[in-house]
Amino acid sequence: MKIYLETFGCQMNRLDSELLAGVLRAAGHEMVADARTADVLLHNTCSVRQHAEDKVHSRLGVDLRRKADSKGRRKIIIGVLGCMAQRCGAELLARYKNLPTGQAGLDLVAGPSQLANVPALIAQAATGEPVCAMDRPGSPADGFDAIDLARDVACMPQVAQAFVRISRGCNKACAYCVVPAVRGPEVSRRPERIAEEVRRLVGAGRSQITLLGQTVNSYRWTAGPRTCRFNDLLAAVSAVPGLRRLRFVTSHPLDFGDDVLQAMRDLPNVCPYVHLPAQSGSDAVLKRMNRRYSRAQYDELIDRCRAIVPNVVLAGDFIVGFPGETEDDHAASAELIRRSGYKNCFVFKYSPRPGTFAAEKLADDVPLSIKRRRNNELLAVQEEVGLAHHAAYVGRMVEVLVEGPSPRATKQPHPPNPPATQLLGRTTGDHIVVFDGPSDLAGQYVNVRITGASSLTLTGERAAS
Ligand code: SAH
Ligand code: SF4
Ligand code: F3S
Repeated sequence: MKIYLETFGCQMNRLDSELLAGVLRAAGHEMVADARTADVLLHNTCSVRQHAEDKVHSRLGVDLRRKADSKGRRKIIIGVLGCMAQRCGAELLARYKNLPTGQAGLDLVAGPSQLANVPALIAQAATGEPVCAMDRPGSPADGFDAIDLARDVACMPQVAQAFVRISRGCNKACAYCVVPAVRGPEVSRRPERIAEEVRRLVGAGRSQITLLGQTVNSYRWTAGPRTCRFNDLLAAVSAVPGLRRLRFVTSHPLDFGDDVLQAMRDLPNVCPYVHLPAQSGSDAVLKRMNRRYSRAQYDELIDRCRAIVPNVVLAGDFIVGFPGETEDDHAASAELIRRSGYKNCFVFKYSPRPGTFAAEKLADDVPLSIKRRRNNELLAVQEEVGLAHHAAYVGRMVEVLVEGPSPRATKQPHPPNPPATQLLGRTTGDHIVVFDGPSDLAGQYVNVRITGASSLTLTGERAAS
């Protein structure tokens, strides 16, 4: 069948979609880029904020109209996969039960750990019987990564970079967060299997690997007397011959030991970049969020990062308008952004998620207008901080992994056979660098002299090699 797959949410979901596309192709299906030509419309969804779920509801509206318009002449299967499927389950099937034609509206709902089963679930849904396959928490650690080792290079969106999951789920219990409920408790992968997957990816031309987990630094695998922690995993993976860059996201500020920072300093291919969400700069809010670290501990961690890893580049996440957040709490977040000197920072308006501690026990008492203002204020502070951070690179030479034409360049009309186009690449510190060069540089490493900076990007000129 022809399958259209749309992805919402985080990197983990993007990787899940890539793995799923490989599974579907192996089962004989064809992935298509145009929903109008597809027999199966799948949405790999996110529940982290209400807005993410609203987008899925509006897509489903479009799908269901298309299916109703086809009046049964064509069989169209509609499926919701991933985190929202897990959160809403059978409720989704009930909500989108029947079309006016009497056909089933929504056919398939499957949780985020069902990737390997999706071909069978599609076959089941094709019989006309709606299918609901939920994850059960605590399934065995060795079971969930069978598909990772059989990855299909044809499904990888980038020529030189690939994501590899080292764990799934999360054992933290941040009061606002739906992830532990939808992704289950944290389960780490066996280190030998992670290293084997990286070896295969490097063999298939991927020279930059990004290790993925909700909290990568809590990675832990115990076999007999031996425990492999995150710093041990970094050492094992970084030794894969031909691996030029090793990255990881996301880290939790709690339990971020010097061992990981030392591994970053001492292993030459581990990139000096840490995404370290703070969520708030105020102790009172951090406590209500159940982040389990204080502002002083976070500040101390940033100082340790800078002391141990030369040229370390930091990124952050903040939530504005968490229940009870005062103007003073908000000012503390702004002050933390300045103090940390992030390269970039994601700012989110608090969104109550059903079933979480915050949604059940704390009133969502910061009005939307104030959340919006605080969101803009933190972004404005980050813009200044980001500009200062990037400006410090002007005049320096950086090594860039070229991803391809910059999105802006592809929108501009080109003369036939352009001699050079605007390319986009990334430094080891994850800076975005825009410069002119031939498009066949995609996937290669080039040296670029930085000539300009904005709050989010560097611009430069390719150095003669
Ligand atoms: N596991 C990662 C990412 C979790 S989700 C981590 O812990 O860093 C990504 C970001 O979404 C979080 O860092 C947080 O800033 C934001 N987020 C999570 N739940 C939210 C909610 N209910 N409302 C608004 N933002 C939220
Ligand atoms: Fe959510 Fe917190 Fe886990 Fe991140 S660490 S996924 S914010 S519960
Ligand atoms: Fe969203 Fe699930 Fe990722 S809720 S942020 S897609 S883990």
